[in-house]
Amino acid sequence: MASKAATEMGMKAGPAPISRRSLLGCSAAMGAVLLARCESISETPLQSGPSRLPETFFGAGETVLTALERPLRLAGQTRPIPAWTYGETPFPVFRTRVGETMRVRLNNQLREHTTIHWHGIRVPNAMDGVPYVTQNPVLPGEDFLYEFAPPDPGLFFFHPHCNTAEQFGRGLAGILIVDDESAVQFDDDVFCALRDWRVDGQGNFLPFITNEGAGRAGSFGDLRTTNLQIAPEIEVPAGADIRLRIANLDPTRNGEIGIAGAEGFVIAIDGNAVTPFPFTSWRLGPAMRLELCVRTPPDGGAFTLFDYFSAEPVTLAAFNARGAARRNGEFSPAALPPVNIPEPDIANATLHEMELSASPVATQYAGLAPIVLPDGRVINLLDSLCTSAETLWAVDGQTWPEQGHENAPPPILRFALGETAYIEFFNSSRFPHPMHLHGHSFKVLSASELPRPVHWADTVLVMPNERVRIAFVADNPGNWMLHCHIIEHQETGMMAWFQVA
Ligand code: C2O
Ligand code: CU
Repeated sequence: MASKAATEMGMKAGPAPISRRSLLGCSAAMGAVLLARCESISETPLQSGPSRLPETFFGAGETVLTALERPLRLAGQTRPIPAWTYGETPFPVFRTRVGETMRVRLNNQLREHTTIHWHGIRVPNAMDGVPYVTQNPVLPGEDFLYEFAPPDPGLFFFHPHCNTAEQFGRGLAGILIVDDESAVQFDDDVFCALRDWRVDGQGNFLPFITNEGAGRAGSFGDLRTTNLQIAPEIEVPAGADIRLRIANLDPTRNGEIGIAGAEGFVIAIDGNAVTPFPFTSWRLGPAMRLELCVRTPPDGGAFTLFDYFSAEPVTLAAFNARGAARRNGEFSPAALPPVNIPEPDIANATLHEMELSASPVATQYAGLAPIVLPDGRVINLLDSLCTSAETLWAVDGQTWPEQGHENAPPPILRFALGETAYIEFFNSSRFPHPMHLHGHSFKVLSASELPRPVHWADTVLVMPNERVRIAFVADNPGNWMLHCHIIEHQETGMMAWFQVA
């Protein structure tokens, strides 16, 4: 199997780029039959599409997502880049209805194993898509059927969960919008995927992990896109109340997202409804999503989506209002239906402090036991795609194992089924960390540095020196990941798992 071959290759903690993963390729261990498939790359470069990404509705049947390398022509690039996608172009947008079973068959036509993790969706553990932790990796040429009914409406996305810096870096991700009856409240529903690309202008990707980036705020992309375009112009109805859904699909960049030329209210965070509050700007870390209700300008007017984080605000998209006004009167959007997530019982819970720190020293684990999957299967080996490139970061002083460790580390926390998990993240490092955990949505109760209202989330930004308290009912049995969503931090140690049983 791939794991053995890759483990034997070892890893030199040499100068940047950290490139041990590219070594894996079509390893001989995978066999000649698969090699033939590894070569299959569609010939015609795909153009990145119009300013709105096309949407597909998941029907009752099976949807096949083929993970494949495809040439993708991005704006300003003289040659297409070798993107990895789940369809014709990166970021296919799917819609389904809350509570309805969806069936997605992943067909892996990449040269390395992969899976699909459904970020933010409270799926059963076996559907969570983490190789060696919730399922076996889907090897080149293999299929895996994901089948579950999303329990919550909102804006979600999906992506691989090993060698994420490269797989996600090359474009492997998709968007899932789970609709409920709130759709009727809005005159339009506009989706914006924010994503930078690490490309050199000549058709090549730049290294996905660098020592300089991984040890600091991450390696930024130089080509900034919204829906695969540079600052696209998007037509919207005039004088209308539109739902503007913004997803940060960047592996690295924290944005400070704002709009100019229109008024907006925040209506949902990470897909979870909030009592609408006026939108000024929002610090949107990697993997985080924000949903606004915006009253668009009259016919002929425009408003703009900005990232204010850099010295000069960066235009992410412009929205041109067209047609007769749909609304008149005061702008005060109705709340989305309230979340349907169990309320944590803080009064009776134990607070666990969890330090997020820089740590150049790999944790030595003694006597590691294999991970046992909920269905009783035993997982023995983490392979090189799923271990850390090298150790730069830790969760609670523990690092995710580097290559050479043979088993997953022990769980960082254990909760009894139904127990309230109450955690205080403390960031002792100099860089922000968007912390994400699987299988549960949590309530963000307090934050000591960056003011935020109490809200439900699946990813929360923890600023330098900040203490952020979260809580949730551990009601989803299984082994669940907890990690930073700056992928270079995740892949250099800032990753752990917890158990609910
Ligand atoms: Cu979107 Cu474990 O991640
Ligand atoms: Cu981080």
